[in-house]
Amino acid sequence: MKPTQLFSILLSSLMLISFSACSQAENESSPSIGTAEKEPAEAAMETVSDSSKPEANPGNFNFETHTVTLNSGYEMPIMGLGTYSLSDEECYRAVTALLETGGRLIDTAYMYHNEAAVGRAVRDSGIPREEIFVITKLYPSQFASAEEAIKLALETLDIEYIDMMLLHHPGSSDVDAYLAMEQAAEDGKIRSIGLSNWYVEELEDFLPHVNIMPALVQNEIHPYYQENDVIPYIQALGITVQGWYPFGGRGHTAELLGDETISSIADAHGVTAAQVILRWNLQKGVAVIPGSSNPGHIRENLDLFGFELTEEEMDQINRLDRREKHDWY
Ligand SMILES: NC(=O)c1ccc[n+]([C@@H]2O[C@H](COP(=O)([O-])OP(=O)(O)OC[C@H]3O[C@@H](n4cnc5c(N)ncnc54)[C@H](OP(=O)(O)O)[C@@H]3O)[C@@H](O)[C@H]2O)c1
Repeated sequence: MKPTQLFSILLSSLMLISFSACSQAENESSPSIGTAEKEPAEAAMETVSDSSKPEANPGNFNFETHTVTLNSGYEMPIMGLGTYSLSDEECYRAVTALLETGGRLIDTAYMYHNEAAVGRAVRDSGIPREEIFVITKLYPSQFASAEEAIKLALETLDIEYIDMMLLHHPGSSDVDAYLAMEQAAEDGKIRSIGLSNWYVEELEDFLPHVNIMPALVQNEIHPYYQENDVIPYIQALGITVQGWYPFGGRGHTAELLGDETISSIADAHGVTAAQVILRWNLQKGVAVIPGSSNPGHIRENLDLFGFELTEEEMDQINRLDRREKHDWY
């Protein structure tokens, strides 16, 4: 085990103990980290203004290197490419375009049926393996036989090791599956582990049963579904947050990318609406994995460091929240 992993396990255990104590105290004194006892309007206003407070760097992102150091000790790029719904060849071409443009973070999953294409593009790129960060996920149908599922992911990707493996969403045997990922992390097959579609309640239930604090939680986050109560809760645990559906997901992108507020902020900076949305995420400490099969879009989605949103602009976008979830989990 690498010293950083040992340190991370110790750190995670300490955080878990203090988190359990803390949440117990929370339960006794105030109802929850959320805003359960407040009137909805008051709570919503507080959520918006809380999220727009000028926090120096909520996710501890490094805007020079474009990476974040995870609680596992490993570095992850803060923006990259999502591959949901990309077929094999499309996926191979998109990942190749990303890597050629300088992007180094790729999100796939067993459920996307394109892990083999991701692995092939990574191997064919000629880029040193340790410079690329690949995330994949175990689907709930695999949780009961997680050890075999991890083996299958390693074989299908065929890239020596997996940088990050997540549980795709809660399901029966999820604790057992997570413990299997912990073992694979200790064996050096997976470098970091985490969760996807776990919110406050799910985390409160789940964390006391595991030993390694997740390094990442990947949830639906976009201007119409902001999770302003969930993000700071996860970040306070030392877990990095990553958003899926940054443009609202297919079927919703036209509305979000055409939103008047976002478009006028984009015009003011001479950038696109897509870039404004991604930059808004980064300034909230949320890593991004926009999906695209278009090399022009892939390039655009990595070009996020030539401008900065003002506090007022961040606040304007924060006010667009409709709590409108675009997928069921
Ligand atoms: N953990 C989970 O449960 C979960 C669930 C859903 C998704 N995800 C992950 O999150 C990633 C992102 O979600 P998504 O791909 O479904 O939706 P998305 O990123 O919100 O939107 C993708 C759509 O946006 C378009 N697009 C991308 N860049 C653009 C740009 N610069 N300008 C205009 N249009 C642009 C794409 O079209 P073009 O191809 O033409 O660029 C595509 O139609 C997924 O790929 C997946 O990796 C995870």
